[in-house]
Amino acid sequence: MTKDMEKKLVRTALEYRKRAYAPYSEYKVGAALLAKNGTIYGGCNVENAAYTPSNCAERTAFFKAVSEEVTDFEAIAIFGGYDDTELKTCAPCGVCRQVMIEFCDPDEFLIIIGRSEEDYEVHTLREMLPLSFSPKELKK
Ligand code: THU
Repeated sequence: MTKDMEKKLVRTALEYRKRAYAPYSEYKVGAALLAKNGTIYGGCNVENAAYTPSNCAERTAFFKAVSEEVTDFEAIAIFGGYDDTELKTCAPCGVCRQVMIEFCDPDEFLIIIGRSEEDYEVHTLREMLPLSFSPKELKK
C-alpha cells in the first residue's frame, strides 16, 4: 500500500470518528476500510442505551461493505479516544479481529492504528490475531 493511501485511510478514519454515536462511553472511534476494488468504507461506533447492542467502528465499516456485496479487503485504519486533540492508540477489540479474519488473509490485511496523521503504525492481522479460528477450519 502506498504512503498516500495510508494517509488517506487515516484521514478518513479521523473524519468518521466525528460521527461516533457514543453518548455512554464518550469514547469516539472512527474506521476506514479499504476494499480491493479501491472503495473506502467509513464507520463509527454506534452505542445503545442497553449497552450490548453497541457496535464498534470497525464492524460498522465491515458490515457496510459486506451489505454492498464487497468482501475483499486490503486494509483498515482505526482511530479512537476521548479527547479530539490527544488521541491514544485504539487497537481493535477481539470481536472486531474475529470479524476481520472472516474475510481477510491474515498475512496480507493491514491494520493502521495510532494517534494522528503523522504518528501511526501498521500491523498485519496475523500479528493482531495469532492462532485464529477462521472459515478454513470449517471445511471438511
Ligand atoms: N470501540 C470501537 O469502536 N472499536 C474498538 O476497537 C474498541 C472499542 C468502541 C466501543 C464503544 O462504543 C467504545 O469504543 C468504548 O468501548
